[in-house]
Amino acid sequence: MQAIKKLDYAQPSLEGAIRIPGDKSVSHRSIMFGAIAEGTTTVEGFLQSDDCLSTIDCFQKLGVEIAIDGDKVKISSNGISNWKEPNEVLYTGNSGTTTRLMLGILAGSSGSSVLIGDESIQNRPMRRVTEPLKQMGAKLIGRENGQFTPIAVEGTNLQAIHYKMPVASAQVKSAILLAALNANGETVVEEIETSRDHTEKMLQHFGASIAVNDKTIRLQGGQKLKATHVVIPGDISSAAFFLVAGAIVPNSNLTLTNVGLNPTRTGIMDVLQAMGASFTVNDSENSSHEEMGTIEIQSSALIGTEIGGELIPRLIDEIPIIALLATQAKGKTIIKNAEELKVKETNRIDAVVNELKKLGANITATDDGMIIEGPTTLHGGDLLTYGDHRIGMMAAMASLITTEAVTIDNPGCIAVSYPTFFEDISSVIK
Ligand code: S3P
Repeated sequence: MQAIKKLDYAQPSLEGAIRIPGDKSVSHRSIMFGAIAEGTTTVEGFLQSDDCLSTIDCFQKLGVEIAIDGDKVKISSNGISNWKEPNEVLYTGNSGTTTRLMLGILAGSSGSSVLIGDESIQNRPMRRVTEPLKQMGAKLIGRENGQFTPIAVEGTNLQAIHYKMPVASAQVKSAILLAALNANGETVVEEIETSRDHTEKMLQHFGASIAVNDKTIRLQGGQKLKATHVVIPGDISSAAFFLVAGAIVPNSNLTLTNVGLNPTRTGIMDVLQAMGASFTVNDSENSSHEEMGTIEIQSSALIGTEIGGELIPRLIDEIPIIALLATQAKGKTIIKNAEELKVKETNRIDAVVNELKKLGANITATDDGMIIEGPTTLHGGDLLTYGDHRIGMMAAMASLITTEAVTIDNPGCIAVSYPTFFEDISSVIK
């Protein structure tokens, strides 16, 4: 039986500082890029979470030497052309980023491998990646014509493509760009909305040349990556839970340091601003190649807002916690154009609406998002995580303002992105 965690914080206030742990997206990429490059790459600020450890495990099975020491990682690789053919299945756990980016990388490597993930991954759509990769000449076989893992990859010579992406997805964009590194010719990717650009930034940091013009990206194949040192900023998607808690828990004042402030990820700040939250940003720090800084936030009187369009990819992972925020805002919050939520770790439209309703929220699911009417006093309840880390963290933050205790099933799923989440909550409770 899975553990159930009782959260009975008795309506605290929050005060103090939290150093936000490493960015999950950037941590995955640091391992991948370090493994592709020949030589020794050193990483600092690495997020040692279940998802990122899945990425490390896959590359170790490909013969790449990886040593972890807290948040420091050393990757020693003979380069992508010298990886060994793994004699075990590559297990990508709960991680969509690992699964989709690995498909792009392995498609143009030499050797054969098989990828499989956990139950959630086995139900997440992969054709969005396998289809463009097949257009490049990739040899991939998976259930339902490459839609679901397990997927077998036989590395081969790839050809560049010009690809217009049908969805705004950094995972799809990144899988194509990583395949393009090993393809003949220049690959062009056109996005429908700008998604997170960590791959583009890290390609440059590893010495590749890439041209980005608004939503069009061009990458010449045959470029070699140069091993380097990577400093990873904290994950704004993890910070988001504490930004919301700071704004909705009465008498609170939180300082979050080491927060990644890449503009393709800061949609949550736009929403907090539109809702009238009181916060300040000091963005004077930098990681090795990404913006970062400190955010201070206080309890705030909030108003509803509308969230859609180009903002959605800039806050896609924050929507569960934004929904909680909206339950405390005066008036209506409308979240639209967010149908991608249905194919995340779980269907996050259904999960958020079902669980917040159990606490008394006035929230309705729509085809492409949700509508929340606030403010409402939330009461206690027994909530489900659906094995989804961000639903679990949303439920935990809700428990800080509920009039009675909240329980959550499977709190262990939070370790996918934020293993020290509960310790960090405890450290700021007054
Ligand atoms: C990620 C991209 C996003 C995001 C995911 C991480 C990445 O997914 O939701 O948590 O690291 O590239 P999509 O690319 O599917 O939108």
